[in-house]
Amino acid sequence: MPTSRDPRTRSGLALWATAVLCTAMAVTGCGPDEPPDPAALFANNCAACHGQAADGVDDRGPSLLEAAYLIEALPDEALATAIREGVASSQDRWAPMPAFPRFDDAELEAVVGYVRELQRRAALPDS
Ligand code: HEC
Repeated sequence: MPTSRDPRTRSGLALWATAVLCTAMAVTGCGPDEPPDPAALFANNCAACHGQAADGVDDRGPSLLEAAYLIEALPDEALATAIREGVASSQDRWAPMPAFPRFDDAELEAVVGYVRELQRRAALPDS
């Protein structure tokens, strides 16, 4: 009967703890060494208000495909700041955008890059 001092039990516990931690961190990726998954970050944190394709959700948030949010009007750094600090809403039908202070630099970069990708895709003639 293994006890908690048994090394096999301890490594089992460590594995279990890692599994739980990874599950808990599934939204942001597992641990700092894993590269963030841009599409998953966007789907889990942004799509509810901005839509899976960033084309907006009526009563939640604007389409990010509008000219006002393209890189010429809203540079990457400003987009990242909006995500990190949140955004006040200009319309009664939208609640303010929450801040995402838990995103690290790699995650911020990944989400910003993904928004740009969705904007590029939407600009393609046959999409
Ligand atoms: C609870 C809904 C909600 C969520 C979740 C949300 N947003 Fe927003 N977002 C908004 C609203 C509302 C605005 C403000 C629109 C306005 O009135 O100008 C906004 C504004 C923005 C802007 C424009 C910022 C600016 O300076 O004009 C960007 C870019 C943006 N969101 C990206 C994102 C990204 C990327 C995520 C995920 C990390 C996200 N949003 C999550 C609701 C949301």
